[in-house]
Amino acid sequence: MNIMENAAIQGFIRLCDDGWRQGWHERNGGNLTYRMRQAEIDACRPAFRTDRDWVKMGVKAENLAGEFFIATGSGKYFRNVSLAPEDNICIVEINNQGDSYRIVWGLESGGRPTSEFPSHFLNHSVRKAATGGECRVIYHAHTPSVIALTYVLPLTARDFSRALWQSATECPIVFPEGVGVVEWMVPGGPDIAKATSECMKHYDAVVWAHHGLFCAGPDFDTTFGLMHTIEKAADVYSRVLSTGRPILSTISDDQLRAVAKDFGVRINEDFLD
Ligand code: 13P
Ligand code: ZN
Repeated sequence: MNIMENAAIQGFIRLCDDGWRQGWHERNGGNLTYRMRQAEIDACRPAFRTDRDWVKMGVKAENLAGEFFIATGSGKYFRNVSLAPEDNICIVEINNQGDSYRIVWGLESGGRPTSEFPSHFLNHSVRKAATGGECRVIYHAHTPSVIALTYVLPLTARDFSRALWQSATECPIVFPEGVGVVEWMVPGGPDIAKATSECMKHYDAVVWAHHGLFCAGPDFDTTFGLMHTIEKAADVYSRVLSTGRPILSTISDDQLRAVAKDFGVRINEDFLD
């Protein structure tokens, strides 16, 4: 069996292409991980090799022991993933303690999983627990309009959630819990991983100030769709601000409640007046 024919690998590659075409992945910006299903692991296993070293992650999650993840490589460009997947992405196995990984496939010309693997890993742990195992995808992108808003909005979950909900009618339906916000931190290490995963206990999207956005979801479509919806709402809000004109009308809190009720979702009342 050719590993490239696996639906999980194909979905992973397609998301990388889609994100690149949106303009969210300059250079090596952004990263993606997918927690594989048992049937996908079994189908890909003939292509695995187990001679590469275990690498400590600096973070630990017992509920991810023994899992396999597809991951983009650190320093690799999303625009190259579909051209040469075996050089730009990898599959990693997590050890029985849930604190180390080893590459079992991919990154054939060298490299390691994304530098944000600690954040992806802890986010997977938290979202797996919060969703009864449904969550499989963690996606980080450098979404320009979300980043722009982190310079002008207070860096709170309440301020960002309200601004985004008010900027497109579908938003309260797509992310009724709102979004979390992490103040600027040095990327790539255990500290930002822990701060982000704390937010992921409540939200499936977390803004990184002056950096980008993390989204979580059960599959590639839902996760990409969440990223796309949030970035588009942020784009609308940025355009409104850039007119320099006073806001004469917006979606009121009662209208947000009404749309949530009609579409059968529970909007986060903490963020409504
Ligand atoms: P990687 O190339 O290590 O994935 O880093 C890109 C990035 O966006 C860091 O936040
Ligand atoms: Zn980044």
